Amino acid sequence: MLQEIEQQRALLRTESLELLRKNQHPSGAFIASPTFSQYDYCWLRDGTWIAYSLLVHGYREEVRDHIRWVCESMGRYEEKVDLLPQRLASGEPLQNTWFFSARYTLEGLEDESDWPNFQIDGYGSWLWLVAQYLKSGDEPLPQTWDHGAQLVIRYLEMVWDIPNSDCWEEFNEHIHPATLACLIGGLKEIAPFLHSHWSERALLLERTVTDYVLAHRHESGYFPKYIGSETIDASLIWLAVPYGALPPDHPSMVKTIEKIEQEITREGGVKRYPQDTYYGGGQWIILSAFLGWYYLKAGKVQNAEELMTWIIRQKEDDGSLPEQVLDDTNDPSMIEPWEERWGAVATPLLWSHAMFLILDKELSGYNQQEGERDE
Ligand code: BGC
Repeated sequence: MLQEIEQQRALLRTESLELLRKNQHPSGAFIASPTFSQYDYCWLRDGTWIAYSLLVHGYREEVRDHIRWVCESMGRYEEKVDLLPQRLASGEPLQNTWFFSARYTLEGLEDESDWPNFQIDGYGSWLWLVAQYLKSGDEPLPQTWDHGAQLVIRYLEMVWDIPNSDCWEEFNEHIHPATLACLIGGLKEIAPFLHSHWSERALLLERTVTDYVLAHRHESGYFPKYIGSETIDASLIWLAVPYGALPPDHPSMVKTIEKIEQEITREGGVKRYPQDTYYGGGQWIILSAFLGWYYLKAGKVQNAEELMTWIIRQKEDDGSLPEQVLDDTNDPSMIEPWEERWGAVATPLLWSHAMFLILDKELSGYNQQEGERDE
């Protein structure tokens, strides 16, 4: 049985690496899902995880291409950042078009549909990705990336406390600690690679945002889905892993994880939040992988292994991992309306494969370290 799972894991690793690389557009962008009509964009959020999974598996060139693509894509709209101070000061109602997009076409143009597009988490995640790339090699920071990082810092300084859509593209009237986690992680990690002026600005903002998140915990100690909310969201895992706003054993983090386990985890599958009804609100592969990654950092290896096994079991016959599994949903009556609207759940979702690959690498790294210690 164990051997069967290990074989499946090795196969899924090979298939996932192939799938991600095959779906990188010549521009450097990664399509979110090649088979789901609504997902033919590259989100900065998804792109970060896809690129990071390739990085940890040794594919640096693909990551460079992706980072460059983000620089070029946002660079086309750089004027938005120049104009933002005066627009924000004008007192006019905020307009989505003033802000950077959450996703771009594969050619790097903004998505002009009316889908919520003002989401800032992806920009923080992108800074984090750039830092991971630089940390894992000895190449200097290219000038265009440096410029891109400065642009993002200027942007985030102006927008971090403006309500915007969460990482699920919902609740745009709120501020989300998980979104801020991405900023904290990105700013903290990129700072050492920047010249002192920009490094100081990044760290100042990082401290401000961290203080804000800590000051806005729920009165019973956990981090809320959004500021003032009574509920939780699995994306709050990011505060500890990977973004390190606080350690995995921080009491508020532990409380948040306990709520995630009790309220939205079913047999290894983690849901987004208790009230989610997108395709009924099922269990998301990416979230099981994030929880597994958290467990590993919290020293709970057995729990991480169990989540890995659950993920492997969700693989379809052709090797694809879906966005979510509908075995246990919050509201089964909402599956059909979504299937009628957009077709079956996005499968394969590149981000799901990326998170499998990251947990796979983390687990192997952990087991290797343990092995070395035994010798
Ligand atoms: C999710 C986003 C994701 C996008 C593309 C949406 O359904 O809510 O988090 O970036 O799909 O994968």
